[in-house]
Amino acid sequence: SRVRHYKFNVVMRNTSRLCSAKPIVTVNGRFPGPTLYAREDDTVLVKVVNHVKYNVSIHWHGIRQLRTGWADGPAYITQCPIQPGQNFIYNFTITGQRGTLLWHAHILWLRATVHGGIVILPKLGVPYPFPKPDNEVVVILGEWWKSDTEAVINEALKSGLAPNVSDAHTINGHPGPLSNCASQDGFRLSVESGKTYMLRIINAALNEELFFKIAGHKLTVVEVDATYVKPFKIDTIVIAPGQTTNVLVTANQGSGKYMVAASPFMDVPIAVDNITATATLHYSGTLANSPITFTSTPPQNATSIANNFIDSLRSLNSKKYPAKVPQSVDHSLFFTVGLGINPCPTCKAGNGSRAVAAINNVTFVMPTTAMLQAHFFKIKGVFTTDFPGNPPFTFNYTGTPPASLQTTNGTKAYRLSYNATVQLVLQDTGIITPENHPVHLHGFNFFAIGKGLGNYNPKKDPKKFNLVDPVERNTIGVPAGGWVAIRFRADNPGVWFMHCHLEVHTTWGLKMAFLVDNGKGPNESLLPPPKDLPKC
Ligand code: C2O
Repeated sequence: SRVRHYKFNVVMRNTSRLCSAKPIVTVNGRFPGPTLYAREDDTVLVKVVNHVKYNVSIHWHGIRQLRTGWADGPAYITQCPIQPGQNFIYNFTITGQRGTLLWHAHILWLRATVHGGIVILPKLGVPYPFPKPDNEVVVILGEWWKSDTEAVINEALKSGLAPNVSDAHTINGHPGPLSNCASQDGFRLSVESGKTYMLRIINAALNEELFFKIAGHKLTVVEVDATYVKPFKIDTIVIAPGQTTNVLVTANQGSGKYMVAASPFMDVPIAVDNITATATLHYSGTLANSPITFTSTPPQNATSIANNFIDSLRSLNSKKYPAKVPQSVDHSLFFTVGLGINPCPTCKAGNGSRAVAAINNVTFVMPTTAMLQAHFFKIKGVFTTDFPGNPPFTFNYTGTPPASLQTTNGTKAYRLSYNATVQLVLQDTGIITPENHPVHLHGFNFFAIGKGLGNYNPKKDPKKFNLVDPVERNTIGVPAGGWVAIRFRADNPGVWFMHCHLEVHTTWGLKMAFLVDNGKGPNESLLPPPKDLPKC
């Protein structure tokens, strides 16, 4: 194993997309930002220097951060933000993980432009559990707003209404020629006939689950969220913000240009944000003026196409990579995830009310001191550990809404002892409207053991759980009007954020934290904070 040093200068950079330019916050002037490469077992040190006027923090999404919660990155959860002119070295070791992940800013909406890929190669000499591709390409999906994204969300919070949707989706930073700025070229994926490519696909969009497909080429799925899956072939994958998917593509069409498309998936298309981002798969030797082979994209609400992909995912569960699904459960939790409405006397456009979101009816209020610091230094009054393990009321979650749409506010954690096993059912509610919620858990991978539509039935549904080879991931889509069940082992002491990875829902309060106590063993406690940990 090695120590790898990176320097992330957070700087403004004037960037032109959709035929107009605006200054954006970037890492090292790039959009998307640089890819971080490492091998399993390596130690990574990233020095982040903040040269912009905003507070900044960076999250290494999906890196487990065993005992190093200080380096996880969510502002006010594990650290105070890095203030303008300040810097901080994120120092962590990648233990027992290999695959594709992403890093992104974890404060306000900065991650719209502050994000990039993480590629963790297997240990030296350890092969992939599938035929070695001839080449590998990182493909980052994103969103682009013509206006300033911080202004977009600030305006929405003031009015109480939903923020404006983005003006384009992007593939490796580019909307592509089908956008309303035809002169702008899209990303070109150059291939040679007969070769096989591994695409490391990352959804770094703020608010959009995306379909991804390539005209004339099948995708062989081999990994999601940096865990290997049983390989399968498919035309179209779906990928939620925060998720990653590795696919193999064989350039078996001889020559030509083929459209690569990323288009939105949303069960309830409230916002009309249906612009497809395009790129081109380009065979070497193809004439510049030869036409592009197009592909149709799924309708925005093509749930069956999404499910066809999601239901095909199984852990590889081989001898070398066994699926360690907890077979017993210490904490059986039932969390509702959904929207709500709270009073807001100053919200003029919202008629005195504002949109909120909640887990178990608790709208999370950001503390002003990091929860992990409060936990470690025993600072009182920052958060409480009475997060409800069940919703405070029951109703028909996917049908009749409860009598009150109002949520309670709080900064609450759910406490787990070291190594406890957790089964968590995440139930979408139809309060205001049913919606997909890609829920991300920091600090752990979990197994997705079950999923269904309608209300979860605690008597019948567990009988259908897959406790053998369920897919293992760090971000899971709770289907609109349905539920998912996950299991994980609390083997990582610290404070771990869990939230919807649609940034608008996070902003509205669809977030909570697990507090995991230290164990009694020699390597079972949170390490002390680094000396340069930012102060609030
Ligand atoms: Cu990728 Cu808490 O986020």
